[in-house]
Amino acid sequence: MQLEALNQKFAIDNKVKIVNGKGNLTKVCVETPMASAEIYLHGAHMTSFRQQNQERLWLSPIALFQTDKSIRGGIPICWPWFGPHSTNPNFPQHGFARTSSFTVESIEENSNGEIAIAFLLTSDEKTRMLFPYHFELRVKYQIGEKLGIEIDTRNTDEQAFSLSEAIHSYFKIEDIRQTHLTGLDTTVYIDKLTQQEKRQQGNLSFDGETDYVFSKSNSELLVEEAGKTTLRINQQDGDSTVVWNPWIDKAKTMGDFPDDGYFNMLCVEAANTGDNLIIKPGESHAITQQISFSASTSS
Ligand code: BG6
Repeated sequence: MQLEALNQKFAIDNKVKIVNGKGNLTKVCVETPMASAEIYLHGAHMTSFRQQNQERLWLSPIALFQTDKSIRGGIPICWPWFGPHSTNPNFPQHGFARTSSFTVESIEENSNGEIAIAFLLTSDEKTRMLFPYHFELRVKYQIGEKLGIEIDTRNTDEQAFSLSEAIHSYFKIEDIRQTHLTGLDTTVYIDKLTQQEKRQQGNLSFDGETDYVFSKSNSELLVEEAGKTTLRINQQDGDSTVVWNPWIDKAKTMGDFPDDGYFNMLCVEAANTGDNLIIKPGESHAITQQISFSASTSS
């Protein structure tokens, strides 16, 4: 749909407009008294979420905005597999949703002033070459006092399918070395760097490359920066939480990630990484992450 038609259908006066973003890719801009946000149709990818003029997502200053690439930072949607494909190493890492062009299905303002946006991707010949099923994938955002993200998969095929997925949120932080993640004490995790299974003791702090897949934990996760809680993260219906920071050496191997970028970011991802998620024909499954932000250490 052209920009003019998109705006005619979905724009909300002074609050929501659809514009050409970087790389000539279309983005939805939201501006309300509670929060402002930017979401690209490419990947249904949120690249900015601001409250009180403070950016809360980390976006790489050298991110690529190209139809065949995922945007580095913000909130990539990994779907219908997380990490490398289980059998075909030539298939794209983290699935194809993050490099697919979504359509806007709906944009609404709720009675409390929140903006709810649903993006839709449906199966076609191209997706069936990578994932041989019919599906409807909805990525939904709730933009208000809190930020809500949902990945909602509907099986429109005649066969059941299994999938893995992640809401791969990159949070902007002041200093990774002064940051702790609480809420994972005693939780078992796989350290992807060594493939060892470990059990977390106390809060998680960071002093090197971190790539952990924690098994499901029900508690709220808190990001604490210099002793102050700056983010509260709640997630539902995922079997795991992924915590990732590439640190220096890995950052240097990534063309779209500045060498010192690791210092200001932390990924805390709501995910289904196991092989237990099976969706039957006609059924749906959703995973959510909800975040509330408090003033950061610099404010
Ligand atoms: C994390 C994975 O979710 O994403 C890491 O656990 C991976 O292993 C990271 O390196 C970034 O992936 P990508 O494909 O965006 O570079």
